[in-house]
Amino acid sequence: MCSSCPTIDAPAAAPFAERLTGILNGGALSLMISVGHRTGLFDTLAGRAPTNSADLAAAAGLNERYVREWLGAMTAGGIVHSAVGSGLFALPDEHAAFLTRAATPGNMAVPAQFLPMLARVEDPIVDCFRDGGGLPYEAFPRFHEIMAEESEQTVVSVLLSHVIPLVPGLADALRAGREVADVGCGSGLALMQLATSFPASRFTGYDASQEAIARARESAQRRGLSNVRFVVQDAATLVDEQRFDLVTAFDAVHDQVDPAAMLSGIRRALKPDGLFLMQDIEGHSDPARNTEHPLGPFLYTISCMHCMTVSLAKGGAGLGAMWGVDTAEAMLRDAGFVDQHVHRLEHDAMNAWTVARVS
Ligand SMILES: C[S@@+](CC[C@H](N)C(=O)[O-])C[C@H]1O[C@@H](n2cnc3c(N)ncnc32)[C@H](O)[C@@H]1O
Repeated sequence: MCSSCPTIDAPAAAPFAERLTGILNGGALSLMISVGHRTGLFDTLAGRAPTNSADLAAAAGLNERYVREWLGAMTAGGIVHSAVGSGLFALPDEHAAFLTRAATPGNMAVPAQFLPMLARVEDPIVDCFRDGGGLPYEAFPRFHEIMAEESEQTVVSVLLSHVIPLVPGLADALRAGREVADVGCGSGLALMQLATSFPASRFTGYDASQEAIARARESAQRRGLSNVRFVVQDAATLVDEQRFDLVTAFDAVHDQVDPAAMLSGIRRALKPDGLFLMQDIEGHSDPARNTEHPLGPFLYTISCMHCMTVSLAKGGAGLGAMWGVDTAEAMLRDAGFVDQHVHRLEHDAMNAWTVARVS
């Protein structure tokens, strides 16, 4: 302990010091989990009999020396098991169930990728702490790729089984044929899932990102979908009037430059009996009420280093991902929405699902 430090209750401090050690190890393992996902190492290791680093590297098509060091981190972290002296490594099925592509929608290695994505912008974010301002979307090279994987897990995999049923009668209406828009659609996976499932309905995806819309268009073409179109469009300046029966926004309101304008535009774009379905981050506006949130620190970190900063970069509101369901409820009311219902899905601690009506 330093000589100039104030006298502290050492026994009370010890657990905190231990916790900080765990935090360092957890942060380091998050990076290696991301690497394990991107290199396919978890997928290669899953279901395999105990194997040495050379065989694993050969099976995964990777460099043995790097694979051996990765196995060291995984073994020291208790993710991979290795009997002392064996030089053999195995991924228990119980761990593979949360770390492989086959584990979707529960693959925790997918969100782990956000941490190295954020680490790449640490220097300019530190500058923003001093000078204000922000970093635009373009500062995050892998964002749309990671987001598409995350969307596949948190939205697409449960869209038909859990999300559409939140609104009684919605599936039948979509089966009969409705006009649907998704604002901030990103790579468009959720909209394409709907377009495939409800061929009599028509779907429009809006996003400001050329890159995301290009990915969406290419994917729609590959799937041969003729009832979906994707448009590069700033969500704050939607011009549609009473056009849509349903508008969705999946994880796309809180990082807007002008979220109030987006919500007003969505309300105007809906028919008088239209529905807005908004997936956004679960949490309270008051940080003191988020101490029990299972993903609180993770979400505030993503918020500070991505969601908030991309908005501030363009002089925006900078709501941040942890704007809270209470703020969301007030903003939806201000935009003219009524009859709001906030739903939680059992398997999804990260999101709140709000259904609101125009009248
Ligand atoms: C967190 S991502 C979610 C993407 C997608 N809905 C999903 O679930 O994968 C937010 C999306 O909002 C888009 N976005 C941000 N600002 C926008 C704006 N002003 N107008 C339209 N889209 C915007 C981003 O390009 C990004 O694709």
